[in-house]
Amino acid sequence: RPYSETYRPQFHFSPAQNWMNDPNGPIWYKGRYHLFFQYNPSGNTWGNMSWGHATSPDLVHWTQQPLAIPQDDTEMVFSGAVVFDKTNSSGLGTHGNPPLVAVYTSLHKSDSVQAQALAYSTDGGTTWKKYAGNPVIDIGSRDFRDPKVFWNAKTRSWTMAVALSAEHKVRFYSSPDLKHWTELSEFGPAGATGGAWECPDLFPLAVDGDPSRVKWVLVVNINPGGPQGASAAQYFVGDFDGKTFTPDDSSTYTPPAGEVIADFEDGTYRSWTTTGTAFGSAPAAGTLPGQQLVTGYQGSGLANSFIDFDASTGSLTSPEFTIDKPYLNFLIGGGNHPISQPDPTAVNLVVNGKVVRTTTGQDGEALDWTHWNVADLAGQKAQIQIVDDNTSGWGHINADQFVLADAPALGSVQRAHWMDYGADFYAATSVNDEPRGRRVVIGWMNSWQYGQDIPTSPWRSADTFPRELALRTVHGKPQLVQQPVQELNILRTGITRTATTVLPDGTDVPLAANGSLLDITATLRAGTAKDFGIKVHTGAGQETRIGYDTATQEIYVDRTRSGASSLSPAFAGVQRAPLTLDSKGRLDLRIVVDTSSVEVYADDGRVVLTDQIFPDPSSNGVSAYAEGGTAHLDSLRAQRLRSAWR
Ligand code: FRU
Repeated sequence: RPYSETYRPQFHFSPAQNWMNDPNGPIWYKGRYHLFFQYNPSGNTWGNMSWGHATSPDLVHWTQQPLAIPQDDTEMVFSGAVVFDKTNSSGLGTHGNPPLVAVYTSLHKSDSVQAQALAYSTDGGTTWKKYAGNPVIDIGSRDFRDPKVFWNAKTRSWTMAVALSAEHKVRFYSSPDLKHWTELSEFGPAGATGGAWECPDLFPLAVDGDPSRVKWVLVVNINPGGPQGASAAQYFVGDFDGKTFTPDDSSTYTPPAGEVIADFEDGTYRSWTTTGTAFGSAPAAGTLPGQQLVTGYQGSGLANSFIDFDASTGSLTSPEFTIDKPYLNFLIGGGNHPISQPDPTAVNLVVNGKVVRTTTGQDGEALDWTHWNVADLAGQKAQIQIVDDNTSGWGHINADQFVLADAPALGSVQRAHWMDYGADFYAATSVNDEPRGRRVVIGWMNSWQYGQDIPTSPWRSADTFPRELALRTVHGKPQLVQQPVQELNILRTGITRTATTVLPDGTDVPLAANGSLLDITATLRAGTAKDFGIKVHTGAGQETRIGYDTATQEIYVDRTRSGASSLSPAFAGVQRAPLTLDSKGRLDLRIVVDTSSVEVYADDGRVVLTDQIFPDPSSNGVSAYAEGGTAHLDSLRAQRLRSAWR
């Protein structure tokens, strides 16, 4: 049976063989979805980039088609979009048989210049010809890529969003015919800029389902510089008047009001103490005076907010301060300052020599606006400790700000909005001409950090299950919410329900809902537990935890024991996202489980985490757990799914 190899996703699209990255040009056309993708026709790592092709009647069952747009001697075919040119505005088809037109980035092999080019199909997407007048936009740049094109009915023109990757900008163009393009405006830098901006997307969405309140969403994928330090998708909500995108949030970063304990960026910190050997120009152990703590990292051009250590354990400890506000908010890396050198890090809050709060980072992870609720510690004297347990090579902690504040910074002040906090969501792009007016997005379910080393053969990479997007007002602002498209229901084969269960401290409660293809909906409730959640793919000492940390108020996916992980030191880790429980302490979860992935939707899809995992095929148990106290499983419904490849 095809598609039955170990780790082969059973309802996520993956190519039969060879390397895949970004989804390209998804479009609905004449009753079928067409999905193209960055593809190496002759290898299982990145190279020879061409467009692969697959079709589906329902976004669930895919049939791989012959290679659509191959590379050639002069160019590789990078990411882009496909439009249906209904009126034959391009003249590349005929009036009676209008063409599908692909707009892609041509990577010139001779000089690495990236320019925008066209290919077209007059047989419904099966065969493609490159346009003889290519390129259609060439500004001589080596970082100008990934056009997304759509028909703007208001301006009656083709509109393109394309990335100036190194400048952290999206540039907009318009065209009457897909061949001649006029620059409209630029957006950026804004939000997260800790990596290259790639694969932009721009589309309108109704706010709270009200068609009279439409906002525009600009998705900007970024690599690295995501919430875990690697590749990720951020988004901006705003207005697009046909020419200019204006975000609702000001792009300038405003620190939350409150007592600043340390701001390494502008030097308003008091003396911290360090252990371990500091690297480079920083002084060794001892009290670090003023500016010396702030060691500029040679040549990187980034802000002077690094503390570098050599290959040994090091830590930084703040002077004592009194907790007189309910929240402690902080950034370590993230936003504009990712930790560019992989470096396991923990941040502790210490009272009377005891660690009372901790947040652990991991290789390359940024802690972007983590906040601790410290109301229960009011009046206590505390210290902050940043621990770097770098064991090989050198690394640096990039500390930004510690602020005692009246309110959590997250939700009210944010430098970037993340579509997905997991490690494996990138190059998200939405479907053109989706028939039911939905906005459906597909992402690459892999990471540039370790993607070419994942233990799958003869293919590498899958796409995320398609998600339907909406905007919902939360904390007074429209935020992106996502749900797996309802077509997932096609695969349901049976349901298991679990009655209300108390989760005792420290013992797993196995659930009847086992299987490796599942769509789980659960409500958990915090009791006295510090940590609680659901485990999937359990067995043989393996487990993948989807849980909640009440101390840090974060939902997380823990894949440190999920199965094969030696592919990269960056793989085994915990991805976290800020999330406040509701007033009853409840956590609503939807978890979509495939053989080698989990997609976690919390708070009705406002907070999403997508992670690959590589468990043994026999590890297909499901359980619930609580630690540090008891918690409750109020309800759990597990839809068993069947494979889409049968
Ligand atoms: C994103 C990306 C794009 C580029 C393509 C090349 O993952 O780097 O910017 O077009 O992949 O394969």
